[in-house]
Amino acid sequence: MNTREIVSTATYLASTKPAFLLSELCTYLTGDVPVTELYRSLSPHLHRLGLAATEVDGDYKISRIQKPAVYLLNTDERKRIDAFFAACKIPAILERAIEEYITKKVGKSWDDPVILERLRRAVVAQKDDYWKPSQRRRLQYTKGYRVLSYLAYHFPVYFMQTGHLLAMLARDGLLKKTMTVLDAGTGPGVVPLAIAEFYSRLDDATATVYSVERSEEHIEAFMFLREQCTHKGATASIKPPIRADITTFDPAQIPQQVDLLVFSNVLNELIDLSLEQRADLVMRFAERLSPDGSILIVEPAEEATSTQMRMLSLTLKKRGLSLHSPCSFVWGTNCTPDRCWSFVTAPSIMPTRLMETLAACNEPFRYVNTDIKYSYVVLRKDGKTKEKYRVPSGSQVLRLSQIHRHVDKRVNIIAAKMSEELGNAKTHMFRLCDGSAEKPVYAVAPSYHITIGNEGIVSAPYGSILELDNVLVRYNPKHDAYNVLVNRKTRIRQHD
Ligand SMILES: C[S@@+](CC[C@H](N)C(=O)[O-])C[C@H]1O[C@@H](n2cnc3c(N)ncnc32)[C@H](O)[C@@H]1O
Repeated sequence: MNTREIVSTATYLASTKPAFLLSELCTYLTGDVPVTELYRSLSPHLHRLGLAATEVDGDYKISRIQKPAVYLLNTDERKRIDAFFAACKIPAILERAIEEYITKKVGKSWDDPVILERLRRAVVAQKDDYWKPSQRRRLQYTKGYRVLSYLAYHFPVYFMQTGHLLAMLARDGLLKKTMTVLDAGTGPGVVPLAIAEFYSRLDDATATVYSVERSEEHIEAFMFLREQCTHKGATASIKPPIRADITTFDPAQIPQQVDLLVFSNVLNELIDLSLEQRADLVMRFAERLSPDGSILIVEPAEEATSTQMRMLSLTLKKRGLSLHSPCSFVWGTNCTPDRCWSFVTAPSIMPTRLMETLAACNEPFRYVNTDIKYSYVVLRKDGKTKEKYRVPSGSQVLRLSQIHRHVDKRVNIIAAKMSEELGNAKTHMFRLCDGSAEKPVYAVAPSYHITIGNEGIVSAPYGSILELDNVLVRYNPKHDAYNVLVNRKTRIRQHD
């Protein structure tokens, strides 16, 4: 009896009824195979087949794993979430908990002048390190003040940023009524705590959040904030982080059916790993992803880090994951991401009391971090993409891979808007991508040329697909890039 026959018979039975006993397989198989033998052959394949086994009186009940329903936000939930974003503030309870944690760790009040001075030095050292090219960073989060300065400087922005990303996942129908989440490289629990906050605004959804982190100091901070800011019986259950190195982590330690896998500001820190090795790591974790689960990778908007993330995304696409968003491939081609610098912005947050206190010195700007800018990608195993649009064959539309042949000519293009405003109020500028361009392409629109017929270039959201009819192509030798000039005769339509 070979395994293939057992697997295909089980697949057949599962397609005919929601559940069956493993012993029923014997009716279809040649020879008398004991149930234990059947189970041994079938069990490694169950997860992939979307099946689960439960032992019943010496037999096994095999049933289809029920997909939790997609969770769509209702009007009240949307209002509550919008109100939270409009305040642009991290919850007061979290602000106070961070202050208390600093006080607890240093044994003096967080606003003691000596402590503030040490925090300032740590913030500056961490920032200097953070913006260095990745090969030159030291990035140690093990010394006490580095974690405290992370809490003071980075945590508030990343916390709100995660809220915006969760709202986006909800809008895109990627949250489920019951979710299992895994956050890899969780630090002081930014993502889990943001999930707890987000879910507290939902009526009827629950999440169980697992996380992995290697730094003991970060875990200690996470456990303190979790204790102060979450409570038993809440809609999100935040599990204590697993202490481990994600590069050697055995995913068997986490549940089989993870619905959302998050790598927030962490993959860029794995400076010893090549692109292929980072892809291996993500694929290893993806083994635990449910067939309709999502992987969210987020990185700082800084050019080198952001571009590296796009290269990783394409590598993962070539390994079989689909790029759900924000990228779209309107010609069905693979892209050339080595100069792809694309990021999102969200409204700045209000400085926390701790930031303001740190800023009460000669160089206040060094200690206030309120801008939200990030690069992200959502990947899937099931081929699902946010945009399904493909340019119909026979369209009179230029592929951006051919733009060099059309310099100084007027053309029609279809491309996604892949930046927020890069220009100014006088001359708008936005990055465009149709998935085929080898060099960056920008739409340039002087404000006096903006009309009702082309204002979509300004108002369309990040990632939306635009049809641009009648734009003039120019080459920009200084940046080795192409500009397409929008004027009054240009018509722009946002694709539905
Ligand atoms: C910049 S912090 C990001 C924390 C959090 N995810 C966020 O977005 O704010 C990076 C975190 O990843 C952790 N980290 C880096 N390399 C790791 C590894 N190989 N295994 C586990 N954690 C790692 C660091 O200790 C740190 O806590």
